[in-house]
Amino acid sequence: MTNRATAVAPSNIAFVKYWGSRDLERVIPTNPSISMTLTRCHSRCTVEHRDGDGPGEVLLRGADGALAPAGDAFARPVLRHLERLRELAGRTGSFRVATENSFPAAAGLASSASGFAALTVAGVHALELERDATELSVLARLSGSGSAARSVLGGYVEWPAGEGEEACHATGLAGPEHWDLRNVIAVVETGPKQVSSRDGHRRAGTSPHFARRLEVLPERLAAVRRAIAARDLADLGPRIEQDAVELHLVTMSSDPPIYYWKPATLAVMQRVRALRGQGASAWFTMDAGPNVHVICPPGDEEQVATALAEIPGVQRVIRDRVGAGPRIVADPVE
Ligand code: PMV
Repeated sequence: MTNRATAVAPSNIAFVKYWGSRDLERVIPTNPSISMTLTRCHSRCTVEHRDGDGPGEVLLRGADGALAPAGDAFARPVLRHLERLRELAGRTGSFRVATENSFPAAAGLASSASGFAALTVAGVHALELERDATELSVLARLSGSGSAARSVLGGYVEWPAGEGEEACHATGLAGPEHWDLRNVIAVVETGPKQVSSRDGHRRAGTSPHFARRLEVLPERLAAVRRAIAARDLADLGPRIEQDAVELHLVTMSSDPPIYYWKPATLAVMQRVRALRGQGASAWFTMDAGPNVHVICPPGDEEQVATALAEIPGVQRVIRDRVGAGPRIVADPVE
C-alpha cells in the first residue's frame, strides 16, 4: 500500500533567538525563544510511504527548478526523521520525499525550520498518525532543527526551554490576526552558510558573552511577551535588535569564531536606523546568516522595501508577513 501526503509549512523569524543547547541530540535548548511565523517563506514537502523494503529517496528542487536527488547531508537527517515517525506508527516500509522552498535555502532564512515542519506534518499524515499541535511540535523538534518546533504553529509563538523531552514544545502566544506585522527581508547572500547552526549551538558556551546573555534573557523575554500582547512595536523593536546583535556577539566570540555578517548586513542595519530617524517604525533582526529581516507595520512596508532595495549588496527584497501554521494541501511536489 502507498500513502502520500503534502504539507506546506512556513518559516519563522525569532524575536528572541534559540542559541545554545543543553542536549543537542534531543534538541533541548538552553533558553526559551519567541518567534513570528511567516507566510511567503515556506517549504512544501510530499512524503510517500510504501509498504515493503526499499531504499529511501529524497528529492530537492534546485535553483534551476529541477527536482534532483539531494546530497547525503540533506537526505540523511530527512530519512532518519521519517524512520522515527515510522517507528511511532509501528510500521515498516520505505519513503520517497520531494521538497521545495519558496526562498533561498540555508542562508539564514530558516529553511530548516519550514523544511522539517513540513516534513513532520506530511510524514505524520502519510503514516496516518493522529497528532495535535503540541505533539507535532515535539516531533518537529526531534528532527534536529529546534526552530522547526515553532513553525508548526501560526502567529506569535514561544518555545520554552522545557525540562523533559515531552514537555519541550512550542506554544502559541497569539494568533496571526492579533497583530499584522510585516517582515521585509534584505537578501544579501543566497548561498549556503559556512557554519551550520548545529555547530553554532555546540560552540555557543565557549563565548564569554553566552553566560551574560542567559542572565539578561528573562527580563527580555518578559518584555517581548508584554510588547506582543500590547501590540507595542516601539517597545518590541529595541528588544529584538538587541537580541539579534547579541546572537552575533556570541557567534563572533565563540571558539572558533563564526562570522555570519557580510558588509551589506551592516549597511542594512545602518539604513534601518536611518529610516527610524525619518519617522518609520522599522527594526532589524538576523538569524545565523547574513540576511536582515526588518520588522515593521503595514504602513511602513513600502518605504522600507524601497530603501532596502537601493542598498549596494542587497540582491533581493522579500516582503513577508505574520501568518498561519502548516496545512495539508492537494498539490504534490513533482
Ligand atoms: O533550529 P536551528 O537549530 O537551525 O537553530 C536556529 C537558530 C536561529 O535561527 C539563529 C535562532 C532561532 O531561534 O530561530
